[in-house]
Amino acid sequence: MPHTKLIQAALAAREQSVAPYSKFKVGAALLTASGDIISGANVESASYGLSCCAERIALFKALTDGNRDFTTIAIASAGGAAPCGACRQLLAEYAGEAEVILVDSESPSTPTITTMGVLLPNAFTGDDFPEA
Ligand code: THU
Repeated sequence: MPHTKLIQAALAAREQSVAPYSKFKVGAALLTASGDIISGANVESASYGLSCCAERIALFKALTDGNRDFTTIAIASAGGAAPCGACRQLLAEYAGEAEVILVDSESPSTPTITTMGVLLPNAFTGDDFPEA
């Protein structure tokens, strides 16, 4: 199956999830055009609203390591949940052309494949700002 390595990275990241409140573990792994994989997991706070999703942790790690060109993101959770609205916005801005692989941790060999264009059509991005 294509993207086996990326899916394995998302599953491994999920094991590092820090989710003591919801117990809902999520892992995400981004693939760059140059073939690098950057992963992250959700981290929760006792002040619940401060918690951060796996997708944004992975994206922020990748961006602040200098990566800009993302081809694919794999997201692993129990049930293979799709990214929340906040993560869709950020992924649309920085990985808008990416393929999205939704992985059920109980059945990782049969992921659901979609795209950011499907998950957030007509996204608002920096291109919408009028020219200076
Ligand atoms: N979560 C993610 O990490 N990604 C998503 O796409 C949906 C939700 C996390 C946030 C929180 O730690 C837990 O899952 C329950 O919402």
